[in-house]
Amino acid sequence: MYPLNANKPWPENQWYVAGLSNEIGHDIIGRDLLGRHVILFRDEAGAPHALSGICPHRMLPLEQGRLKGDRVMCGYHGLEFDLEGRCVRSPITPAPPSCALARYPVREHAPLVWIWMGDAARAETTPLPEQELIGLGAAGWRSDQSHYYDLEARYSILIDNLFDLSHLGFIHADIMGEAGAIAFSQPYLSESDGRLVVSRDHLDCPVDPYHRSLHPGLGDRLSTRLDTDMLGICLINAGGPVWDGPDAAGTYQGSQNFIHVLTPASECRTHYWVFVARDFRTEDDGLSFALADQARRVADQDLVALEAIERLLASEMPLPREVSMKTDQGALRARHRLLQMINAEDGPSVAA
Ligand code: FES
Ligand SMILES: [Fe+2]
Repeated sequence: MYPLNANKPWPENQWYVAGLSNEIGHDIIGRDLLGRHVILFRDEAGAPHALSGICPHRMLPLEQGRLKGDRVMCGYHGLEFDLEGRCVRSPITPAPPSCALARYPVREHAPLVWIWMGDAARAETTPLPEQELIGLGAAGWRSDQSHYYDLEARYSILIDNLFDLSHLGFIHADIMGEAGAIAFSQPYLSESDGRLVVSRDHLDCPVDPYHRSLHPGLGDRLSTRLDTDMLGICLINAGGPVWDGPDAAGTYQGSQNFIHVLTPASECRTHYWVFVARDFRTEDDGLSFALADQARRVADQDLVALEAIERLLASEMPLPREVSMKTDQGALRARHRLLQMINAEDGPSVAA
């Protein structure tokens, strides 16, 4: 399926984000994740859990049931399941042993709740992406949620978009203003510890109004670096530091990150959460509001483009042969990594 020529749409043996810490509580949430229906809730001690979300008796979505202590009770005929997914009570007639829900490993690292939907034995030995490196739940940083989107597009074209910042000065020209000029800097790639980083330097620039508003102490010239950083398949940061002066030897002013959290709901739908994080002026609520609002307006513009692309991809219309340019190097590398992850699970498949 475009843009990945692979025999399945996503790798399974990865940590994905199931939801946010502050939305999972003592009521059951139903959510489609990786093409499966899942329920999310907290037990009486406050720990989050994820179970398959369709009752095996007559297929009721279990968010239409309720929690009874630490049991999930189906709302249709009252079957009760424990935290392991075992059916522990059948109020009318005994249920066969096969009556059970799948249990998915879950880990919480606020503000995110992560889920593992592949081979459960591998969850134990696979660390979560290091979200604190980009300021999510990290000391000295402030992170704020900007927005959640139920994106009607496949996750892979969102990753394309996030690794292709050459669009900043076009789709987002009205919001980015002069700061969008960084899109014209040549990107360079680095890969280590499972991370893929595409960076752009913008050195010795006049201070534009946007950066002046963020860092009032700047002199006449500034330098910035914009990294797009894939920390995990569903955690991508676009952001970086600002220095006062003509290069990175100048006084560090702070870093600002736009953090994109994405989990496929199905082949053509994606849960998309946007956060902003920064390590300067962390007590400034007004700045948080402004940055979160700006990130939402930027993502709104991407959403319109990506959903239009998805509608074309999903149609039967003939599409032109895809053309790539030098600036697409980062996005092509990101596609390659996705393919590597998928192929590592299912043997070789044809490259993108
Ligand atoms: S559908 Fe759940 S108990 Fe019947
Ligand atoms: Fe964008």
